[in-house]
Amino acid sequence: MILETERLIIRENEERDLDKLHELLSDREVMYYLEFGASTRDDTRKNLNLSIEEQARGKDREKFYFTIEERGVVNYVGQIGFDIIARNESGGICDLGYFIHKRYWGMGYTTEAARSLIDYIFSSFIIHKIETGCNKDNKASERVMIKCGFRKEAELQKHKWFIDKWSDRLVYGLLREEWENREK
Ligand SMILES: CC(C)(COP(=O)(O)OP(=O)(O)OC[C@H]1O[C@@H](n2cnc3c(N)ncnc32)[C@H](O)[C@@H]1OP(=O)(O)O)[C@@H](O)C(=O)NCCC(=O)NCCS
Repeated sequence: MILETERLIIRENEERDLDKLHELLSDREVMYYLEFGASTRDDTRKNLNLSIEEQARGKDREKFYFTIEERGVVNYVGQIGFDIIARNESGGICDLGYFIHKRYWGMGYTTEAARSLIDYIFSSFIIHKIETGCNKDNKASERVMIKCGFRKEAELQKHKWFIDKWSDRLVYGLLREEWENREK
């Protein structure tokens, strides 16, 4: 799979991405709200292996993790992807996630990549709903969801232990019919 947007390329993770991925996964600021940060290259290697193994599963594939790059200059920007968490012959649900290098924050890159991935998901899979969510304090992530057309479905109170307190979690959803009726 490869997607091209105005400024970005979204492509499958590859062996050669290990160093760049590790830089990202071991950055405490980037991984602050995420649970799968990697302190060692070994952890990153396992993470990358899983991503590459999934590519070979064909129609049984459940994890779709991609590299985001800047076009032309081919700079490594970050990661975006989704897990298919439920499916049958009439529909399915997937969970979207993203994290990118600090030097690219605030440039609209994640929104641009997520919009393109959402189009890909609804065009290529029998998926009726895309879900995503974040810690209530993660304003940048919530803003990306809103800009991509997601609708708030729930605000889970004191839902997850985070550093030193039970934190609230926001759950956002986008139904296929909402995507079909989106403003273009
Ligand atoms: C969340 C993240 C992926 C966003 O990436 P990005 O490319 O900077 O996102 P975009 O530029 O497309 O949009 C960010 C939006 O959040 C806004 N924003 C950023 N920080 C903010 C803050 N502290 N408060 C309010 N809004 C904020 C930006 O202004 C922008 O909105 P705008 O276009 O309306 O001005 C990036 O910050 C990141 O990698 N964070 C660490 C990993 C992470 O938290 N991932 C999500 C886990 S759920």
